[in-house]
Amino acid sequence: MKILILQDRAAGTRRAAEMICDSVMRRPDGVLGLATGGTMEPLYAELVSRHREGRLSFARAKSFNLDEYVGLAPSHPQSYHSYMDQHLFGHVDFAPGATALPDGSAPDPHAEADAYEARIVAAGGIDLQLLGIGRNGHIGFNEPTSSLCSRTRVKTLTESTRAANARFFGPGEEPPTYAITMGLASILDAREVLLLAFGKEKAPAVRAAIEGPVSAFTPASVLQMHRHATLILDQAAASDLELREYYFTVHPDGAPAVV
Ligand code: PGA
Repeated sequence: MKILILQDRAAGTRRAAEMICDSVMRRPDGVLGLATGGTMEPLYAELVSRHREGRLSFARAKSFNLDEYVGLAPSHPQSYHSYMDQHLFGHVDFAPGATALPDGSAPDPHAEADAYEARIVAAGGIDLQLLGIGRNGHIGFNEPTSSLCSRTRVKTLTESTRAANARFFGPGEEPPTYAITMGLASILDAREVLLLAFGKEKAPAVRAAIEGPVSAFTPASVLQMHRHATLILDQAAASDLELREYYFTVHPDGAPAVV
C-alpha cells in the first residue's frame, strides 16, 4: 500500500484530484469507480473546477458508483443518484448513460445487485476505484464482518453508519436500513484503488485498516491484498499510525517515492 500523508484535508483533496486527472488523461475511455460521502464533496468540487478550466474531460469515460440506499428512488433528494448529480454529474461532461449507480428502487434489490455486478464486468472492470472509509472501517457499505470475498449485494447498515449519515437527512427523516453495495471482492477487482481519509475521527479505522490484521471486522483492511492501493490521509487521520514517520519518509508530503 502507498500511504501518502498530506498536511491537511485541502492538500489531500488536491493530491487525489491530480491522481484522478492523471488516470483520466492516461485512459480517457477508462472506467471510474466513484464514491459518495462528505469526504468526496470537496474532491468533486475540485474536479468540477478543473473541468471548467478545460483541464479535465469525462466525455469518453464511464463510471460506476459503489452503492445506493435500498428504497430510495433515484429522484429522492438523499439518494446517491441525487448526490452525484448535485456534486459531479450535473457539472461535467459524462456522455448520457455513461454513469451508473445501483437502482435502490428496483422491485428486486437482490436481482439488481447481481445485474449491477454483471454490468461492471461487461464494461471491462474498473480502472480506478475511489473510496472513503467509515469510522467502523467500512468501504462502500461493506459493514464489519462483510465477507472478504463478497460481491455486489444487499447489506444491512449498522446503527453507527445510519447515525453518521443522518446528517444528510432532514428532520424527521431516517437513513434507510438497507443498501446495495459493491462487495469487497468487487472492489479488489479494480485495477487501482484510491482511499481518502481525513480527520481525527477516522484515525482508529485507518490504523486498523493499514496496520491491523486483514479481517472482515475491518473491511478496509482487505486493501492490504490489493497490488495498487493508495491511501491519502491528512495528519489527523494518520495520527494513530505506528509507522507514521516511515510512511512520511517514503513519500514526504505525498510526493512520489524517489527510487
Ligand atoms: P464520509 O463517509 O466521507 O462522509 O466520512 C465515508 C464513508 O462512510 O465511507
